[in-house]
Amino acid sequence: MSDRVTIKKLHKKKKQGEKAVLLTAYNYPIAKIVDRSGVDVILVGDSLAMVELGYKDTISVSFEEMLPFLGAVLRARERALVIFDMPFMSYQSSMEKALENAATVIRMGADGVKVEGAEFIDTIERMVKSGIPVMGHLGLTPQQVRRLSGYRIFGKKNDERQKLIDDALRLQDAGVFSIILESVLEDVAEVIAKKLKIPVYGIGAGRFVDGQILVIHDIIGLYEEFTPSFAKVYKNISKEIEEAVKTYVKEVKQGTFPSEEHTFK
Ligand code: KIV
Repeated sequence: MSDRVTIKKLHKKKKQGEKAVLLTAYNYPIAKIVDRSGVDVILVGDSLAMVELGYKDTISVSFEEMLPFLGAVLRARERALVIFDMPFMSYQSSMEKALENAATVIRMGADGVKVEGAEFIDTIERMVKSGIPVMGHLGLTPQQVRRLSGYRIFGKKNDERQKLIDDALRLQDAGVFSIILESVLEDVAEVIAKKLKIPVYGIGAGRFVDGQILVIHDIIGLYEEFTPSFAKVYKNISKEIEEAVKTYVKEVKQGTFPSEEHTFK
């Protein structure tokens, strides 16, 4: 039997109370490491706008700019499910454009797409009906950052809690195979995960969901501008890279690199 993660296997994990592990990756070498480390789902997130391309927010990246990152991750992946995050305006302007764009990434080899919010539920439904697996995303949806006037926590007010629950149910009815909850109070996230048949994954949504997703740069200390408080930094790779580069600079300057060992004779 193939070791490949499938949507069916993710649904089975939820039924068996087994946590799924999701992580972003955007390039070939890191995707290879992530894939062989036991991550179930690799998200080629539009967070790449900030952490890979240096834009100030995720709405700055275009659909076309994201495709080479998807290609690199797909070439690296052996086991994980690969989901492509539909960026700002790749699905909002028209149903046709949304379907065309989603079809492009599915043809490239992505296993599904992620769409933020429940505002474009007709589009999501049409994608699912066309055979495109869709992952939902509720709570803090960074593509709405301008309208929301910044980043914040969701689920503090009763009407907002109810809307999160209703939207999650609507997305499930529309056929999404899972939902990500971002920056949502733990108790609301727990209610949603219990109510839904499909898996509910959290990023800053506490402990009682069906799995966790984080941005790889946040857990390895590779995005120096900002680390969200819900992310745990397991290693500080920036420091290690800096040390390696500084040693290289020093050795070239003092003439100790290249030594005989690194020289053709
Ligand atoms: O773009 C992204 O990386 C995401 C995750 C934070 C869920 O949407």
